Amino acid sequence: MPDTTTTTSPGEYLLIRNAAEKERLEMQFQVWQAHLGYLLHPTIKTHEHMRIADVGTGTGAWLREVAKTLPETCQLDGFDVSDALFDGRLSQVQNISFRLHNILRPFPEDLVGKYDIVNVRLLAVALSSDEWVPAVRNLIALLKPGGRLQWSDCAPQEGVIKTPSGVTPVHTKRMMEMFHKMLAALGKTPEVHRLLDIFQQCGLVSCEEEILTFEKPKVRDDLNLTIANVMAHGLAAAFELHKLEGIQSEQQITEMRDGVLDDLRTTDCFFSYDVHVVLGQKPL
Ligand SMILES: C[S@@+](CC[C@H](N)C(=O)[O-])C[C@H]1O[C@@H](n2cnc3c(N)ncnc32)[C@H](O)[C@@H]1O
Repeated sequence: MPDTTTTTSPGEYLLIRNAAEKERLEMQFQVWQAHLGYLLHPTIKTHEHMRIADVGTGTGAWLREVAKTLPETCQLDGFDVSDALFDGRLSQVQNISFRLHNILRPFPEDLVGKYDIVNVRLLAVALSSDEWVPAVRNLIALLKPGGRLQWSDCAPQEGVIKTPSGVTPVHTKRMMEMFHKMLAALGKTPEVHRLLDIFQQCGLVSCEEEILTFEKPKVRDDLNLTIANVMAHGLAAAFELHKLEGIQSEQQITEMRDGVLDDLRTTDCFFSYDVHVVLGQKPL
């Protein structure tokens, strides 16, 4: 695991940003939609002149799909600390924009108090335990009074492998253990459990949380592949940034991932994890 002499920097992102990760994010987006069934929680009301932000937008898949459900009079703005994953084709869509921004820094004055809805999905491997509160405060600043914050995330360390046949998927167990240890050692603790409290503590009202277990058989193969790849992409990013005990090369990570795919093919094991959707409203 990480050499104890290495330290993480604020907001250090433990995933790679390349074509393979773009593809993984798109597949993961479809898996999430198959489980959630909505882009905006059904309690969030929409109207014709909304301004919506998606922070940590990645490829922009969420914005792309939300745009299809709302009139063009709604403005949809994506923010990310990097533009490496963003799908450039979305820049052609008239009411979608993209801006570089780090969630850990206050947003520019011209954006403060301008948004009806702020959405966040999956920042668990980006934020260390002490970074969730400042991130939520920065997001709240974007909202108009009465605006809604929707944050959906998971605790990667708590993902499990289920083995109905009782056959032990040895490669998968080993890689999961390595991935979980790496995240914990680099400070990416599972803060999603505290998110509802953080929303309340930061002054949001009408807060609620929905927890769903992701393991639907109809998207199981895709979910399995996204998890095998997230472990490989996470370990590759951590290996590039830090020394990792027990890992000497990226090739070794690729071989571990192939071992997981082999387990998935030869046993009836599958991955499962819980997703938390946390909602809050800025007081009027
Ligand atoms: C796991 S991806 C999720 C992308 C997208 N929300 C989705 O659900 O497909 C996390 C995204 O957050 C971005 N990110 C990481 N750290 C960030 C930060 N400090 N501020 C803003 N975005 C960040 C990454 O660049 C990446 O695009």
